[in-house]
Amino acid sequence: MKMESRKFVLKGPLSLLMFAGRLALWSRNESSPEHLLWLDSTEAAVLLQFSAAPREPAEIAKAVGVEYNSQFQRLIDKLVQHRVLSEDVTDRDEPFYLLYSPGIKKGDTVCLVESDALENHIVRDIANGIVTSGFVGENPLSPGVFAGTQGFAVKFRRDALERLIKLMPWTQPYFDKILHENVARRFCAGRLEDSQPNAFYLNALVIPPGSGTRLHVDASLDGRTTPSLVSVLYLETVPLGGRLYLCDANWPVGLVNPRPGMIVHFRGDLTHGVTNTSSSSVVRLSLVCEQYCLNEKKIGLCPKLELVVR
Ligand SMILES: [Fe+2]
Repeated sequence: MKMESRKFVLKGPLSLLMFAGRLALWSRNESSPEHLLWLDSTEAAVLLQFSAAPREPAEIAKAVGVEYNSQFQRLIDKLVQHRVLSEDVTDRDEPFYLLYSPGIKKGDTVCLVESDALENHIVRDIANGIVTSGFVGENPLSPGVFAGTQGFAVKFRRDALERLIKLMPWTQPYFDKILHENVARRFCAGRLEDSQPNAFYLNALVIPPGSGTRLHVDASLDGRTTPSLVSVLYLETVPLGGRLYLCDANWPVGLVNPRPGMIVHFRGDLTHGVTNTSSSSVVRLSLVCEQYCLNEKKIGLCPKLELVVR
C-alpha cells in the first residue's frame, strides 16, 4: 500500500524506557505484547514529531534531517504494526477509505462500495417498509454489543427468499443488488464449489441519536460461523459519527462514511463497529444482511425462514 499523502499520529501518550544506555518502548500490538522496541535518537525524534500533530512521513523525515527513503518507510511500517502510530482519519469523508495497513496486499478485497446503489424513492420505500413493519423493537442481536439499538431480524435459506419477499415486498430491490453473483464471487471463492451464499441473517438496524455499536464479528446465524460477506444498505444517515470501522483481527483496515442509498459489502470475518452518533442528530437506519456459504450439515440446522423480534 502507498504511504504517500497519508498522515499518521502518535496513539495517545507514550512511555519511553531508558535501559542499558538506550531508549525503548513496549509494543502495543496485542499479538506481541512482550516485544520491546529499541529506538535510536533519530527514531525517538521521529516519534516526538508525530506526537505534536498528524503529519505525513516525508514531512517528518525532512524535519528531523534524514532522507525519506524505503528504510524510513520501513520504520513507519514498524511503528504502525506495533500500534505506536495510527493513520489519522479525522478529515476523511470519502464513502470508503482504505486505511494504511502493511498487512493488506494489492488486490485483497476488504470492502466493495456502491455509492448510489439505489435511487432515492426506493431507499424511501425500504425505510418506510421497515418503520411500518410493526416488527421494530429492541434489537435481537447481542445486547452488549448492540445496547440501545433497535430493529428486527430474519434468518432464512436461499430457497425461502421468494417467501420472504412476498412477506416484505420492499426488500426486492435490495436483494436484487446484494445477491448478485458477481458480488458473492469476490468474497466466497474457495468456500464452496458454487461459491454462492445459501443462508442469510437479515437485520434492520435502527441506531437512535447518541448510540453506536461496539466492535464485534458477525456470527448471528448460529453464534459461531462467520459469514462470507456482509452487505449493508444505508437508508438514513447522520452528519456526525455513525462511521463504520473495519478491522482485520484488531488491525484497522477501512473506514466507511455512510450516505443514503449506498451499499457496502465487506469480508465477513472482519471485526467492525459503528461509532456513536451525536445525541442531537437523527436516527441512523440501515439494512444489514450477513451472507453465509454453509455446508450440507450446517444448512440442515438453519431454519428455512424465521422472524426474530423482541
Ligand atoms: Fe455487525
